Amino acid sequence: MLVNTKDMLLKAKHEKYAIAAFNVYNLETVQAAIRVSEQLQHPVIIALGERYFGTVDVEGFASLVKTLAAKSSVPVALHLDHAYEKESIIRAIRAGFTSVMYDGSKFDLENNTRLTKDITEIAHMAGVSVEAEIGSVALGAFSDEEEGAGTLTDPKEARKFVEETGVDFLAAAIGTVHGMYKGEPNIRLDLLDEIREMVDVPLVLHGASGTPEEIIKESVARGICKINVNTEVSLAATRHLDEMFKNEERKNAHLSTIMADMQQSMEPVMEKFTKLLMNK
Ligand code: 13P
Ligand code: ZN
Ligand code: NA
Repeated sequence: MLVNTKDMLLKAKHEKYAIAAFNVYNLETVQAAIRVSEQLQHPVIIALGERYFGTVDVEGFASLVKTLAAKSSVPVALHLDHAYEKESIIRAIRAGFTSVMYDGSKFDLENNTRLTKDITEIAHMAGVSVEAEIGSVALGAFSDEEEGAGTLTDPKEARKFVEETGVDFLAAAIGTVHGMYKGEPNIRLDLLDEIREMVDVPLVLHGASGTPEEIIKESVARGICKINVNTEVSLAATRHLDEMFKNEERKNAHLSTIMADMQQSMEPVMEKFTKLLMNK
């Protein structure tokens, strides 16, 4: 069933597990995410980035996810990922998204606070929960996120930001990057501990792709409740398609078969991440 993202994450926080927010781009990615979550009997967040508003019909997409969620044997939430424009947030709320992320991380703290507070008031009136970010997650390889300066979150600022804006969950920048790491990852779990002490709302880890498995597990043990996954899923599919088109026989296959194969190629990645987040 479709559930409120905030309730889902508060339960995860209480029971010390986390939920994957898989970025999706089409029917196959949504189906893969729900299928894997049903197999593992773990809740899931379907996340659509604002950057896909140009190519994905937002209202049609929301109806589709709501229908699949209603049929699903696990809780499913529908989240707007990295939105920079107020219009996109309002459109997602109207379409029935259960949470939105307002990304004001490129602004200074004062402006990020002011803009996030405004969005939070609007979203809360509609019963939709809000994620925001302070500090900013840097950009690695193969990601299609916007360039990020990559500043770590300051724990004291995080506390003030959450108090002043009223956001429901906070993306903490602790050294992960959007996409794959260009060098050795330097993830600051000590900083996560400090932020956890200062902030009471569920914490979100962006940039899960490429992050060592033990770091992901440890971050969940230390209070991360939502993990955003994009690039590894996309790479699994594009590399699979690439291999497929090199094969003389497969290259002439019908599109329906190719789409089904593509869906299958993403499922092991989603399964890997979901298993890392389960406190079982
Ligand atoms: P990755 O592409 O590194 O998995 O990051 C995903 C993300 O943070 C989406 O918001
Ligand atoms: Zn992100
Ligand atoms: Na990453």
